[in-house]
Amino acid sequence: MSSGLEVSGLGCAYRGVRAVSDVSLTVGTGEIVALLGANGAGKTTSVKAIAGALRPESGRVIWNGEDVTGMPAHRVVARGITLVPEGRLVFQHLTVLENLQVGASSPRAQGDVARNLDHVFAIFPRLAERRAQNAGSLSGGEQQMLAIARGMMSAPRLMILDEPSLGLAPQLVASMFELVRRLNAEGIAVMLVEQNVHASLKLAHRAYVLEKGRIVLGGAAAEMLDNPFVKKAFLGL
Ligand SMILES: Nc1ncnc2c1ncn2[C@@H]1O[C@H](COP(=O)(O)OP(=O)(O)OP(=O)(O)O)[C@@H](O)[C@H]1O
Ligand SMILES: [Mg+2]
Repeated sequence: MSSGLEVSGLGCAYRGVRAVSDVSLTVGTGEIVALLGANGAGKTTSVKAIAGALRPESGRVIWNGEDVTGMPAHRVVARGITLVPEGRLVFQHLTVLENLQVGASSPRAQGDVARNLDHVFAIFPRLAERRAQNAGSLSGGEQQMLAIARGMMSAPRLMILDEPSLGLAPQLVASMFELVRRLNAEGIAVMLVEQNVHASLKLAHRAYVLEKGRIVLGGAAAEMLDNPFVKKAFLGL
């Protein structure tokens, strides 16, 4: 049995219009893998299809040897894959604590709610201070932290983060990348969708580039930093 995520030939369409064609990629246990691409390239579509938020038209998503293609999100979460979607999707009218409890609703997380909560509050002291406050009253950056913290409450083995640093102040961007490093050091594999290409390639083990719904490049992140195409398209060099 292979371990980790294996995506092959993934294809997705919106009302018959192709958004993603033939996306194949892997994320090994313990890896950080960056998924790069311009606006509209199909990054969000791909990760939604992997996480069960969108049913692919074609292709296979295999997780630790099990075919999870087309499974609804809650069943994918129950197997250890958690997507933190783009755009700070927290429940505005629930408190910070209630948002975190929603994140822990999967059976795999239920036994460890108290421990995971302590862990999350240790990582995000600001959320601990504001635990009784409505999520809607948090700053944008704090809401983004809450979205990630909520994902952590599901006790994932693979976290897919879709644009976690979007709209954050530079100092918070740095702590976001530090958080990803820390999650990975705890044994969580991470798939990172980011516009912050240089920082992502510094952090990731491997990376893929999506262009118009297709993977056009993949390899070791360190090598991608030196790749002429990547330099020109993403690094302004
Ligand atoms: N709900 C939708 N209905 C119709 N078309 C969509 C929908 N969501 C995305 N698309 C289209 O699918 C393509 C891929 O979009 P997607 O959101 O996956 O790109 P992305 O790489 O995540 O871009 P961004 O960097 O802007 O987040 C785009 O052409 C987009 O317009
Ligand atoms: Mg997107």
